[in-house]
Amino acid sequence: MTTLQDCQALDAQDPLRSLRDLFALPAGTIYLDGNSLGVMPRTTPARVADVVTREWGTDLIQSWNKAGWFAMPLAVGDKIARLIGAGAGEVVAADSTSINLFKVLSAAIHIAKADRPSAQRIVSERSNFPTDLYIAEALCQQHGMELVLVETEDIAASLSADVAVLMLTHVNYRTGAMHDMAALTAAAHAEGILTVWDLAHSAGAVPVDLKKSKADFAVGCGYKYLNGGPGAPAFVWVNHKHADRCWQPLAGWWGHAAPFAFTPDYQPAAGIARYQCGTQPMISLAALDCGVDTLLATEALGGMAALRQKSLALTDLFIRLVEERCAGHGLGLATPRDHAQRGSQVCLSRTEGAYAIVQALIARGVIGDFRAGDGERHPDILRFGFTPLYIGFEDVWHAVEQLRQVMHRGEWQDARFARQHAVT
Ligand SMILES: Cc1ncc(COP(=O)(O)O)c(C=O)c1O
Repeated sequence: MTTLQDCQALDAQDPLRSLRDLFALPAGTIYLDGNSLGVMPRTTPARVADVVTREWGTDLIQSWNKAGWFAMPLAVGDKIARLIGAGAGEVVAADSTSINLFKVLSAAIHIAKADRPSAQRIVSERSNFPTDLYIAEALCQQHGMELVLVETEDIAASLSADVAVLMLTHVNYRTGAMHDMAALTAAAHAEGILTVWDLAHSAGAVPVDLKKSKADFAVGCGYKYLNGGPGAPAFVWVNHKHADRCWQPLAGWWGHAAPFAFTPDYQPAAGIARYQCGTQPMISLAALDCGVDTLLATEALGGMAALRQKSLALTDLFIRLVEERCAGHGLGLATPRDHAQRGSQVCLSRTEGAYAIVQALIARGVIGDFRAGDGERHPDILRFGFTPLYIGFEDVWHAVEQLRQVMHRGEWQDARFARQHAVT
């Protein structure tokens, strides 16, 4: 049996332990929801205050040049590139994941129509995050194409010559299951199919190598593992071989080759810069910059490989402790045990009371979240994200101990934990 002392010993040996000090973790809280909204870095309040009071308040419009505001989307993009195996000048931080997905999926459709006009289908996974499916559905309507949703195990078999684009989320938001990006991209390319990857639960969470995987397009989120704050700008990457091939559909002036020439016609900027649309939120970009810096701080300590090693050790420990200490309470494991198929979260399934159990845990200071299921294949989920930058092994022990008590005492059955909030 694993003991509290074992967990404390793991913390004492953890080479990434000091990174926790980069974050303003609220006292008395074990935060297992960094896969939804990352914790605030300690540097963020002062940086945001400086952008507001000095850059905006004093320097006003001069800050577009003086503070480098105009270059911020590409500058922050360059930093994100280091986390996802992309090159400098290949990533831009802008807009939301949904909007960026619209841009890249439109571009992929445009390229596929030019190269393989008979390919009229977009394939995705039925369990993909809904916004991805909705954006694809809307684009299919617009282009007279068909959206085909398949189960995870049927993805490879669905890659036929009539498919234009394979659009997947690398790490599944409900289960934490991770795809083999390189293998699926290679299988898609063998049929001439382009790939679009959503890295919302991957960037800053697991090693990603977009170039090595030969992926075609990718988007991702700034407010989860990148710790950019609520509603942080997202990011977009386009393989350089496609970057100049077409306009993206939101051809705003920030993506123009010469925005301050104010010409009436559109001339797209070269490369990823054309994936910008209009004026970006500088206060939010500054906060995102602080968040991304917390990940770049790991570069001296082994980078994403070291973070991954700790993430797997944390999730392994959580699974083991739940199985040792919470057995007999109807909690199933919805996340793959195989390391190669696991992101940085662990999801437990339960046929009854999953929402109330999460609420009872939150009342005890352990913050995870709930995702509704849709029957037997996808039961209700208790979701726990493990951000190795600020979660320790002792935290895992205490989280499972709180879960044990909630289950053992039947605490979750208290009526106050059944009350539904707008955001779960
Ligand atoms: C896989 C995935 N894509 C996209 C999003 C959200 O997109 P947006 O930031 O545009 O709301 C989420 C949010 O949780 C997500 O899990």
